[in-house]
Amino acid sequence: MGLAEGKVVLVTGAAGGMGRAGAEIFGREGAAHVYVVDVNDAGGAETVAAVTGKGGAATFAHVDVTDEEAVAALVARIVAEQGRLDCAWNNAGITDVSGPFSALAKDAWDRMIAVNLTSVFLCMKHELRQMEAQGGGAIVNTSSGAGIVAAPGLPHYTAAKHGVLGITKAAAQEYNNRGIRVNAVCPGMTDTPMIRSWFDSSPEVAKATLAVMPGGRLGQPEQVAEAAVWLCSESAGWVSGLSMVVDGGFVNR
Ligand code: NAI
Repeated sequence: MGLAEGKVVLVTGAAGGMGRAGAEIFGREGAAHVYVVDVNDAGGAETVAAVTGKGGAATFAHVDVTDEEAVAALVARIVAEQGRLDCAWNNAGITDVSGPFSALAKDAWDRMIAVNLTSVFLCMKHELRQMEAQGGGAIVNTSSGAGIVAAPGLPHYTAAKHGVLGITKAAAQEYNNRGIRVNAVCPGMTDTPMIRSWFDSSPEVAKATLAVMPGGRLGQPEQVAEAAVWLCSESAGWVSGLSMVVDGGFVNR
């Protein structure tokens, strides 16, 4: 039996990076169906091909997770097609260039909060409704090391990721006697398109960042995704409200 045997799953931000790794691992672990959710159609199609190429079942859904109507329609579609939604990994996110707090534009603040925090609220709101109606489920949200300590020069990212841990705990408390577990993963620096484009734009920052990483290296997307899939599984049946740090030991020192 795989960790996700027979489960109907959605993963947001699954067109690449950690979300793609998660979709593939859910497939490997026997998920009945994986919904690959993203705004990047080409990347989403590649993820679907990666899952189905190894014998899994997957469908791409173009959904902007900041749009409540689109999120509600996604959950309704999954229930119409599969009858239920067992597991959700709310993982889509963006980052930004770092800079002085006093120079941060309100538009940049608003966008960050919308994509990295409000989206998680919207996804959870509609997932929880369905999971409560069907009698259970499991949710994992992607926070960050920046959900625990500050990311220098990124107050909006730091605020959004701290907020993700707050609403994870709030939902875990509210639903812990209704068969629904809610947890978070807090990745450290992980080798995904997000970090690659940041490193490419600033090689000196990349060098300085790697120098302070455990072992002088980045984490791999699969290492975070393995944790998210486990948290969604019945093996984690007594785990809820957790902020699981997956960063090689960088933050907890
Ligand atoms: P990524 O950039 O490879 O993947 C993020 C995905 O989210 C992309 O496919 C993108 O198209 C999608 N996305 C962005 N806005 C969206 C929207 N409005 N609606 C739907 N999809 C949207 O990045 P990565 O690294 O895989 O990031 C995944 C999560 O991990 C993010 O929440 C990120 O903040 C978080 N994280 C990443 C770290 C890293 O070092 N890579 C460290 C800590 C947290």
